[in-house]
Amino acid sequence: MTSQPVVAHTREDLFAARGALQGNVAVVMTMGALHEGHAELIRTAKRSADHVVVTIFLNPLQFAVGEDLSRYPQTFDADLEICAREGASVVFAPTPDVVYPQGEPGVRVSAGALGEVLEGASRAGHFDGVLTVVAKLLHLVQPDFAFFGQKDAQQLLLIRRMVRDLDFQVEIIAVPTVREDDDLALSSRNTYLSPADREVALALSRALRAGESQAAAGPAAVRRAARDVLVREPLALVDYLVLVHPDSLEQVPEWYRGPALLAVAAKVGTTRLIDNLPLEIG
Ligand code: PAJ
Repeated sequence: MTSQPVVAHTREDLFAARGALQGNVAVVMTMGALHEGHAELIRTAKRSADHVVVTIFLNPLQFAVGEDLSRYPQTFDADLEICAREGASVVFAPTPDVVYPQGEPGVRVSAGALGEVLEGASRAGHFDGVLTVVAKLLHLVQPDFAFFGQKDAQQLLLIRRMVRDLDFQVEIIAVPTVREDDDLALSSRNTYLSPADREVALALSRALRAGESQAAAGPAAVRRAARDVLVREPLALVDYLVLVHPDSLEQVPEWYRGPALLAVAAKVGTTRLIDNLPLEIG
């Protein structure tokens, strides 16, 4: 039997629901349009904490003008069902005026240089917007643990840095990327893909797997194998394909052996997709 989570739309409702939770608390932050990747975050969180608070908030601060804020899928009733099924205790679903009562905040968290590469290079201000809302939600929810997906590797890294650099009292836990049977990484944005786009989109994970298969041979072989797959799919407009150090996000040199991140971003149809694989080189 699943018990219904308490749904809070205001700060007051959240504080009341949070105050009633006994034991330790994990938070799973989302922008809604929940899928099996989000469900896996909630399930994993449930295994380490007495209670899970899920936040559903489409954060305008992390979208630039011309990005997909206005068409982002909103499926609140289905989201609530997933939260109930996975045993969330509280769902915090505020509107922008609850999160930003003074309008756009003048004071924000700055992601710094790591926020300006890869995703940040084509999405100016994106990670400042992400970190600002994550900081606010951590303050509002007061969790012991916060779970984030490896799917958004740069976001995860920056959240870890914020927590470390600004002394947040929360433990950040990463959850591996959940994929479809055909290896496409789950994303709320996959709903934008036409059936033909979806076939093209498979080139991303195929390229990452080709790179992974060359991990023992070193960085050049990894990059070559991944690039060879993508050039054969011209309908995937590649923004970047990089093999970087997982802490610095800098390209690893040819002699490098150790942990690395193979990451790709591409536009397929009208949809920007990202994916990555953590690798051990050598
Ligand atoms: P959203 O894209 O909804 O993702 C919410 C969380 O789910 C993130 O931690 C993300 O990495 C994780 N996630 C998404 N797809 C996944 C997959 N296929 N496998 C595993 N985890 C996956 O990321 C955001 O929202 C926002 O930037 C947010 C952190 C909520 C701040 O607004």
